[in-house]
Amino acid sequence: MLAIIGGSGLYALKALGEPQSRQVKTDYAADAVAVQLYTSGSGPVAFIPRHGQSHRLPPHRVNYRANIAALAELGVEQILAINAVGGITAAMGPGALLIPDQIIDYTQGRESTFFDENLTEVVHVDFSQPFTTSLSHRLASACEAANQSSDSPRSIQLQGVYGCTQGPRLETAAEINRMQQDGCDVVGMTAMPEVVLAREKGMDYAMLALSVNWAAGIVPGTITMADIQAVMNEGMGFVHEVISRFLSAE
Ligand code: HPA
Repeated sequence: MLAIIGGSGLYALKALGEPQSRQVKTDYAADAVAVQLYTSGSGPVAFIPRHGQSHRLPPHRVNYRANIAALAELGVEQILAINAVGGITAAMGPGALLIPDQIIDYTQGRESTFFDENLTEVVHVDFSQPFTTSLSHRLASACEAANQSSDSPRSIQLQGVYGCTQGPRLETAAEINRMQQDGCDVVGMTAMPEVVLAREKGMDYAMLALSVNWAAGIVPGTITMADIQAVMNEGMGFVHEVISRFLSAE
Protein backbone atom coordinates (compact mmCIF):
# COMPACT_ATOMS: atom_id res chain seq x y z
CA MET A 1 0.00 0.00 0.00
CA LEU A 2 1.06 3.61 -0.65
CA ALA A 3 0.99 6.26 2.06
CA ILE A 4 1.14 10.01 1.72
CA ILE A 5 2.54 12.06 4.60
CA GLY A 6 1.29 15.61 4.39
CA GLY A 7 3.27 18.53 5.75
CA SER A 8 2.18 22.06 6.58
CA GLY A 9 -0.80 23.00 4.43
CA LEU A 10 -1.87 19.43 3.56
CA TYR A 11 -4.22 17.77 6.05
CA ALA A 12 -6.45 15.56 3.88
CA LEU A 13 -6.68 14.16 0.34
CA LYS A 14 -9.87 15.95 -0.54
CA ALA A 15 -10.09 14.67 -4.12
CA LEU A 16 -10.46 11.11 -2.82
CA GLY A 17 -13.62 11.79 -0.81
CA GLU A 18 -14.22 10.89 2.81
CA PRO A 19 -11.60 8.70 4.42
CA GLN A 20 -12.08 5.95 6.96
CA SER A 21 -10.21 6.77 10.13
CA ARG A 22 -8.01 4.08 11.71
CA GLN A 23 -6.44 4.42 15.15
CA VAL A 24 -3.18 2.48 15.12
CA LYS A 25 -1.44 1.65 18.42
CA THR A 26 2.35 1.53 18.32
CA ASP A 27 5.15 0.90 20.82
CA TYR A 28 6.28 4.50 20.45
CA ALA A 29 3.39 6.61 21.73
CA ALA A 30 0.77 6.39 24.46
CA ASP A 31 -1.86 7.59 22.01
CA ALA A 32 -2.80 5.72 18.85
CA VAL A 33 -1.82 7.32 15.54
CA ALA A 34 -4.85 8.45 13.53
CA VAL A 35 -4.40 7.30 9.93
CA GLN A 36 -6.85 8.27 7.18
CA LEU A 37 -7.59 5.48 4.72
CA TYR A 38 -8.79 6.43 1.25
CA THR A 39 -9.66 4.42 -1.82
CA SER A 40 -8.18 5.58 -5.10
CA GLY A 41 -8.67 3.96 -8.51
CA SER A 42 -5.49 1.99 -7.97
CA GLY A 43 -6.28 0.78 -4.44
CA PRO A 44 -6.11 1.95 -0.84
CA VAL A 45 -4.03 4.97 0.13
CA ALA A 46 -3.10 5.81 3.71
CA PHE A 47 -2.62 9.41 4.78
CA ILE A 48 -1.08 11.01 7.87
CA PRO A 49 -0.91 14.74 8.45
CA ARG A 50 2.60 14.90 9.93
CA HIS A 51 1.87 17.75 12.35
CA GLY A 52 -1.39 16.25 13.58
CA GLN A 53 -4.91 16.93 12.38
CA SER A 54 -4.98 20.58 13.39
CA HIS A 55 -1.28 21.37 12.87
CA ARG A 56 -0.43 21.50 16.57
CA LEU A 57 2.87 19.59 16.64
CA PRO A 58 6.01 21.59 15.86
CA PRO A 59 8.67 19.73 13.83
CA HIS A 60 10.77 18.72 16.86
CA ARG A 61 7.71 17.27 18.63
CA VAL A 62 6.34 15.17 15.77
CA ASN A 63 6.47 11.52 16.83
CA TYR A 64 8.17 10.29 13.66
CA ARG A 65 8.66 6.78 15.04
CA ALA A 66 4.99 6.37 15.90
CA ASN A 67 3.91 7.69 12.47
CA ILE A 68 6.21 5.34 10.53
CA ALA A 69 5.52 2.36 12.81
CA ALA A 70 1.76 2.90 12.33
CA LEU A 71 2.16 2.93 8.55
CA ALA A 72 4.33 -0.22 8.69
CA GLU A 73 1.68 -1.89 10.85
CA LEU A 74 -0.91 -1.18 8.12
CA GLY A 75 1.33 -2.78 5.48
CA VAL A 76 2.54 0.43 3.82
CA GLU A 77 5.50 -0.17 1.52
CA GLN A 78 5.86 3.18 -0.22
CA ILE A 79 5.73 6.70 1.15
CA LEU A 80 5.23 9.90 -0.77
CA ALA A 81 6.01 12.86 1.48
CA ILE A 82 5.01 16.47 0.97
CA ASN A 83 7.21 19.04 2.73
CA ALA A 84 7.21 22.83 2.83
CA VAL A 85 10.75 24.23 2.68
CA GLY A 86 12.76 27.42 2.41
CA GLY A 87 14.70 27.97 -0.83
CA ILE A 88 18.48 28.44 -0.71
CA THR A 89 19.67 28.13 -4.32
CA ALA A 90 18.58 30.50 -7.11
CA ALA A 91 16.17 27.98 -8.66
CA MET A 92 14.36 27.38 -5.36
CA GLY A 93 12.42 30.62 -4.98
CA PRO A 94 8.93 30.64 -3.44
CA GLY A 95 6.59 28.39 -5.42
CA ALA A 96 9.35 26.21 -6.90
CA LEU A 97 9.38 22.44 -6.35
CA LEU A 98 12.19 20.02 -5.61
CA ILE A 99 12.32 16.23 -5.61
CA PRO A 100 15.42 15.84 -3.43
CA ASP A 101 17.84 12.97 -3.84
CA GLN A 102 20.02 13.74 -0.82
CA ILE A 103 19.72 14.96 2.77
CA ILE A 104 22.00 16.53 5.33
CA ASP A 105 20.77 16.13 8.89
CA TYR A 106 21.33 19.13 11.17
CA THR A 107 18.76 18.07 13.79
CA GLN A 108 19.61 17.25 17.41
CA GLY A 109 18.11 15.00 20.03
CA ARG A 110 15.29 13.48 17.98
CA GLU A 111 14.39 9.80 18.44
CA SER A 112 15.85 8.73 15.15
CA THR A 113 15.99 4.93 15.05
CA PHE A 114 13.91 1.82 15.64
CA PHE A 115 17.15 -0.07 16.38
CA ASP A 116 17.64 1.38 19.84
CA GLU A 117 17.08 -1.03 22.73
CA ASN A 118 16.80 -4.74 23.44
CA LEU A 119 18.67 -5.65 20.27
CA THR A 120 20.16 -9.02 19.58
CA GLU A 121 22.70 -7.25 17.38
CA VAL A 122 23.58 -3.67 16.41
CA VAL A 123 22.03 -2.53 13.12
CA HIS A 124 23.43 0.12 10.75
CA VAL A 125 21.20 0.64 7.71
CA ASP A 126 22.71 1.78 4.43
CA PHE A 127 21.59 5.37 3.79
CA SER A 128 23.97 6.39 0.96
CA GLN A 129 20.94 7.10 -1.23
CA PRO A 130 18.23 8.21 1.22
CA PHE A 131 15.43 8.45 -1.37
CA THR A 132 14.08 5.73 -3.66
CA THR A 133 15.00 6.57 -7.24
CA SER A 134 12.17 4.66 -8.95
CA LEU A 135 9.51 6.30 -6.75
CA SER A 136 11.13 9.73 -7.28
CA HIS A 137 10.95 9.16 -11.05
CA ARG A 138 7.24 8.36 -10.83
CA LEU A 139 6.77 11.53 -8.80
CA ALA A 140 8.70 13.53 -11.42
CA SER A 141 6.40 12.19 -14.17
CA ALA A 142 3.35 13.21 -12.13
CA CYS A 143 4.83 16.71 -11.71
CA GLU A 144 5.45 16.98 -15.46
CA ALA A 145 1.87 15.88 -16.19
CA ALA A 146 0.50 18.42 -13.69
CA ASN A 147 2.65 21.13 -15.26
CA GLN A 148 1.39 20.30 -18.75
CA SER A 149 -2.21 20.87 -17.71
CA SER A 150 -1.46 24.02 -15.73
CA ASP A 151 -1.72 27.64 -16.96
CA SER A 152 1.25 28.57 -14.77
CA PRO A 153 3.86 25.81 -15.01
CA ARG A 154 6.27 25.63 -12.10
CA SER A 155 9.98 25.23 -11.88
CA ILE A 156 10.61 21.62 -10.78
CA GLN A 157 14.11 20.47 -9.94
CA LEU A 158 14.54 16.71 -10.08
CA GLN A 159 17.62 16.39 -7.85
CA GLY A 160 18.97 18.32 -4.92
CA VAL A 161 19.93 18.37 -1.28
CA TYR A 162 17.46 18.91 1.57
CA GLY A 163 19.09 20.27 4.74
CA CYS A 164 17.05 19.40 7.82
CA THR A 165 17.31 21.81 10.76
CA GLN A 166 15.97 21.40 14.27
CA GLY A 167 13.61 24.39 14.43
CA PRO A 168 11.11 25.51 15.35
CA ARG A 169 12.93 28.80 14.93
CA LEU A 170 14.02 29.71 11.43
CA GLU A 171 17.75 29.79 10.68
CA THR A 172 20.21 32.65 10.94
CA ALA A 173 21.65 34.09 7.73
CA ALA A 174 25.05 32.63 8.70
CA GLU A 175 23.53 29.16 9.17
CA ILE A 176 21.96 29.34 5.71
CA ASN A 177 25.27 30.57 4.28
CA ARG A 178 26.97 27.52 5.79
CA MET A 179 24.23 25.22 4.49
CA GLN A 180 24.68 26.71 1.02
CA GLN A 181 28.40 25.93 1.22
CA ASP A 182 27.50 22.41 2.34
CA GLY A 183 25.53 22.02 -0.90
CA CYS A 184 21.95 22.36 0.38
CA ASP A 185 19.32 23.48 -2.14
CA VAL A 186 16.51 23.81 0.39
CA VAL A 187 16.03 23.88 4.15
CA GLY A 188 13.22 22.27 6.10
CA MET A 189 12.61 20.83 9.56
CA THR A 190 10.73 17.59 9.03
CA ALA A 191 12.54 15.20 6.70
CA MET A 192 14.66 13.72 9.48
CA PRO A 193 14.31 11.25 11.04
CA GLU A 194 11.24 10.41 8.92
CA VAL A 195 13.23 9.33 5.87
CA VAL A 196 15.66 7.10 7.77
CA LEU A 197 12.89 5.48 9.82
CA ALA A 198 11.15 4.53 6.57
CA ARG A 199 14.45 3.02 5.39
CA GLU A 200 14.76 1.06 8.64
CA LYS A 201 11.31 -0.41 7.96
CA GLY A 202 12.33 -1.29 4.39
CA MET A 203 9.91 1.19 2.81
CA ASP A 204 10.41 3.19 -0.38
CA TYR A 205 10.33 6.96 0.14
CA ALA A 206 10.17 9.95 -2.20
CA MET A 207 9.53 13.60 -1.39
CA LEU A 208 7.95 16.57 -3.09
CA ALA A 209 9.26 19.74 -1.45
CA LEU A 210 7.45 23.04 -2.06
CA SER A 211 9.49 26.18 -1.46
CA VAL A 212 7.35 28.62 0.53
CA ASN A 213 9.97 31.32 1.25
CA TRP A 214 13.53 32.35 0.55
CA ALA A 215 15.71 30.99 3.36
CA ALA A 216 17.15 33.45 5.88
CA GLY A 217 19.48 36.07 4.45
CA ILE A 218 19.02 35.05 0.80
CA VAL A 219 16.99 38.20 0.17
CA PRO A 220 16.82 41.25 2.47
CA GLY A 221 14.06 41.48 5.07
CA THR A 222 12.37 39.24 7.60
CA ILE A 223 10.50 36.01 6.89
CA THR A 224 6.87 36.27 7.97
CA MET A 225 4.38 33.49 8.59
CA ALA A 226 1.84 35.46 6.55
CA ASP A 227 4.09 35.42 3.47
CA ILE A 228 4.79 31.70 3.95
CA GLN A 229 1.07 30.98 4.32
CA ALA A 230 0.19 32.85 1.13
CA VAL A 231 2.72 30.89 -0.97
CA MET A 232 1.64 27.65 0.70
CA ASN A 233 -2.06 28.22 -0.03
CA GLU A 234 -1.24 29.06 -3.61
CA GLY A 235 1.09 26.06 -4.05
CA MET A 236 -1.07 23.37 -2.46
CA GLY A 237 -3.50 23.34 -5.40
CA PHE A 238 -0.62 22.24 -7.59
CA VAL A 239 0.51 19.66 -5.02
CA HIS A 240 -3.02 18.16 -4.99
CA GLU A 241 -2.88 17.97 -8.79
CA VAL A 242 0.49 16.17 -8.64
CA ILE A 243 -0.92 13.67 -6.12
CA SER A 244 -3.95 12.98 -8.37
CA ARG A 245 -1.66 12.41 -11.36
CA PHE A 246 0.60 10.18 -9.30
CA LEU A 247 -2.30 8.03 -8.11
CA SER A 248 -3.93 7.76 -11.52
CA ALA A 249 -0.64 6.62 -13.10
CA GLU A 250 -0.19 3.79 -10.58
N1 HPA B 1 13.61 27.05 7.20
C1 HPA B 1 13.31 25.84 7.72
N2 HPA B 1 12.19 25.21 7.48
C2 HPA B 1 11.31 25.79 6.63
C3 HPA B 1 11.56 27.04 6.05
C4 HPA B 1 12.77 27.70 6.34
O1 HPA B 1 13.08 28.82 5.87
N3 HPA B 1 10.46 27.34 5.29
C5 HPA B 1 9.61 26.29 5.41
N4 HPA B 1 10.10 25.35 6.23
